[in-house]
Amino acid sequence: MAIVIVSDIKNLEPWIKALKKADPAVDVITQNEVKDKSAIEFALAWNYPHGFFSEYPRLKTISSMGAGVDHLLNDKFLQEHIKIVRIIDPLLSNDIYEFSLAVIMNRLRLLTHFQENQRLRIWKKRMYRRISDVRIGVMGTGVIGSHMLSKLYKSGFNVSGWGRTRGKEVPYKKYYGTGQMENFLRNTDILICLLPLTPETNGILNKDTLQMLPGKAWVVNMGRGGHVVDEDLIEILDSGHLDGANLDVFREEPLPPDHPFWSHPKIYLTPHIASLPNPESVAPQITENYRRTIENRPLINMVDRKRGY
Ligand SMILES: NC(=O)c1ccc[n+]([C@@H]2O[C@H](COP(=O)([O-])OP(=O)(O)OC[C@H]3O[C@@H](n4cnc5c(N)ncnc54)[C@H](OP(=O)(O)O)[C@@H]3O)[C@@H](O)[C@H]2O)c1
Repeated sequence: MAIVIVSDIKNLEPWIKALKKADPAVDVITQNEVKDKSAIEFALAWNYPHGFFSEYPRLKTISSMGAGVDHLLNDKFLQEHIKIVRIIDPLLSNDIYEFSLAVIMNRLRLLTHFQENQRLRIWKKRMYRRISDVRIGVMGTGVIGSHMLSKLYKSGFNVSGWGRTRGKEVPYKKYYGTGQMENFLRNTDILICLLPLTPETNGILNKDTLQMLPGKAWVVNMGRGGHVVDEDLIEILDSGHLDGANLDVFREEPLPPDHPFWSHPKIYLTPHIASLPNPESVAPQITENYRRTIENRPLINMVDRKRGY
């Protein structure tokens, strides 16, 4: 019995080390080291070839190596009875908050603009905006989104969130459901997408919804590339309605070299680094779920496969 890691991550050593440190009794192997597939009950996975687990007849649980699980739920070959768990990690949530803070402050204080002027040797003052001047709207008020909202709120930002359900009472404005989406967007100057990718949220940032944002708004996508309809975003940016976008995630990753996002003057790309899972910090919850799997106990951080997140 062992945890098998199935992933496109090149260096798995830090993961293996962290898992063994979290529980020295656990055997951790990579997919190439599996001798008997029928002995495997628990896998740790990220971006693996779909159908891979069809050859693992006794597999009970797959843990995602990150917060997102769309890479698992999109696997049509994954049998219904296999349970999916994900990572919930305060460090990961805070890394995303810090990334959003960097992006927002860059936008308010125009650092990229002045950097471009420096290259052109242009000395020209331009008025900046203050924290109190903008309305931040976060789509997805789950573990990460609600952490971000409460940190931004405490720092004096004017924030609102949009989720699927009303959820618990929060000190900032909370919109929910498709009926309140337009109102949410119309009151958002900087839109941050932190939704999971599901059939309902696929393509949610399209011509119609982006048009609902006020003129000169800014879009930050840290959810999944599938949330954005690429051509629509480009069209709205080119029309002058939106000022720009920070994109951290893409429909295809790495972003193909000929994709128009690379050279678009209003698009700022990062290579899916809003947060990177820290093996040391997440290993204990993975080994805990491994133990629970082999002892047939309820798992933690379970994903609702029907709901899609
Ligand atoms: N770029 C990166 O480095 C990075 C890193 C980690 C995660 N992510 C992305 O962030 C996503 C969110 O992570 P999380 O841990 O915060 O997820 P989570 O705790 O599952 O929260 C998901 C949130 O999305 C809302 N939601 C789901 N479907 C919706 C819909 N149809 N309409 C409106 N709201 C909807 C949920 O609403 P309810 O609260 O009403 O259920 C919930 O608030 C991940 O799935 C992943 O794609 C990106």
